[in-house]
Amino acid sequence: MDKRGKYIVVEGGDGAGKDTQIENLRAAFPGFVYTREPGGTPLGKELRGMLLHGSKGDVALSTEFFLFLADRAQHVEEVIKPALAAGKHVVSNRSWISFLAYQIYGREQLDWKPVVDASLKKIFQDCPVDLAIILNVPLTVGKERQRAMGKIPDTMESQPNDFHERIRQAFLTIGKALPQAKIIDAARSKEEVWNDVRAAVQSIL
Ligand code: TMP
Repeated sequence: MDKRGKYIVVEGGDGAGKDTQIENLRAAFPGFVYTREPGGTPLGKELRGMLLHGSKGDVALSTEFFLFLADRAQHVEEVIKPALAAGKHVVSNRSWISFLAYQIYGREQLDWKPVVDASLKKIFQDCPVDLAIILNVPLTVGKERQRAMGKIPDTMESQPNDFHERIRQAFLTIGKALPQAKIIDAARSKEEVWNDVRAAVQSIL
């Protein structure tokens, strides 16, 4: 019998409602391991401060790539692989899918893709995603939700609209190509979105 846990990732642009749906998952499935990228480990928390809040000053674009990859490498080794091997189900707020959407397509760095694909393959050996929930909202809805929450924009959230629209389109393209992905219309009410999120998770348990 395969006792490996399931690796579930929740994805979407800023303001798509990931945090709300992950709170719902926590309440419904308290036995799962809940984690995030960037920042799912002590090392990753430092990297998150550097990447999103400028804690060590401006981060060059190529440095941004390696720091997100470093966060992910540590997260996979320290949190995800051990939990899955122990038969625990893992829910991660973001994953390598965000990396492709933000750094490759959002930042328009397609020439980095071979390097990134090779790095992700190495980092994620024996660690495939079982379910990728992609919450999709139009940019205007995401922005309005963030404004209503009074969130101070971080490095990524401060980028212009066209950056965020490229990311939204990238999530859709990746989601359509990935058999384990479920794209959910997250512009609806929280309850409607939750029904779909819960059903998607239950379908792989
Ligand atoms: P969040 O955890 O509040 O969603 O913030 C994480 C931010 O970092 C978000 O703007 C997306 C961005 N990000 C990347 O740019 N690349 C990545 O690989 C990941 C995981 C996140």
